[in-house]
Amino acid sequence: MHSDAVTQHEFVVRGNERAAEGIWRLVIESPVAGQLAPGQFMNLRVPGDGSHILGIPLSFKGANAQAQTVELLYAVVGEGTRRLSQMVAGQSSTLVGPCGRGWWLPEGEGRALLVAGGIGLPPVLAAARMLADAGIGFDAIAGSRTADMVLSDDIEDLARLAGADGRVITCTDDGTAGRRGFVTEAMGELLRERAYAQAYACGPNVMMAGVARLADEHGVACQVSMERMMGCGFGACSCCNVALVAGGYALCCTDGPVFDAREVAW
Ligand SMILES: Cc1cc2nc3c(=O)[nH]c(=O)nc-3n(C[C@H](O)[C@H](O)[C@H](O)COP(=O)(O)OP(=O)(O)OC[C@H]3O[C@@H](n4cnc5c(N)ncnc54)[C@H](O)[C@@H]3O)c2cc1C
Ligand code: FES
Repeated sequence: MHSDAVTQHEFVVRGNERAAEGIWRLVIESPVAGQLAPGQFMNLRVPGDGSHILGIPLSFKGANAQAQTVELLYAVVGEGTRRLSQMVAGQSSTLVGPCGRGWWLPEGEGRALLVAGGIGLPPVLAAARMLADAGIGFDAIAGSRTADMVLSDDIEDLARLAGADGRVITCTDDGTAGRRGFVTEAMGELLRERAYAQAYACGPNVMMAGVARLADEHGVACQVSMERMMGCGFGACSCCNVALVAGGYALCCTDGPVFDAREVAW
């Protein structure tokens, strides 16, 4: 799904709070809110350190065009995200967006299956809202390493969007919350129980490769939101290559981040 051209926008922090162990929830107010399509991302600049000239590419969970707000979830993994976690309500900066190509609706009729690993949850929630708005039923699986890292409020949102007919399964690698095991185990079971037209996945590369393989084995089309180290975020530096089955490379920031899983050379 494409929307408006990539542009620099101002943003103001409206909320920035811990959501789970090592994960923060950021709400910004920005004109980009009215331009984002589900699965797209933006590149946020964190003020205060002139040596950090690159932005932080982040997907979003939801956007409210009327209120001009965007909700994001991010893991603190390095210097940029650590400094982002120190931004307080009222502070402002700039972002570049909307970037990339997001999710598209299923091509066939039938249910969708959503699979999120760790901090892959925000774009999967954006897909859930897109499907709910289109009246397409879905089931979802959300995996985390351990109970402290489970984004319970967001999984509740997922369940609300899935409705009475939707199954939402939480897994942890160590069994401290929900089912013990990887999301691919729960996915295998759901694929045997129910028919799906389309899978949507975001998470660590190894997880998405497993999801893509399972979907392919069951003849289910699969979209994946890929992550690469990024420079510009809009196609100018060629540093975010995704190898393709057909040979050659695509740019994650403009051809993706969402790809048809069958096109990716895992
Ligand atoms: C399209 C896209 C959407 C993303 N959406 C989200 C999101 O919604 N929530 C979220 O928490 N994170 C998301 N990320 C990842 C996020 O951009 C990085 O974690 C962040 O840029 C790290 O910045 P840093 O300065 O804190 O860490 P750095 O100091 O730059 O790096 C710390 C560690 O993280 C690794 N890392 C850094 N950037 C990336 C990356 N792009 N992909 C994989 N590993 C990386 C580094 O190799 C290093 O090991 C997304 C990335 C992309 C490309
Ligand atoms: S990040 Fe620069 S081309 Fe993709």
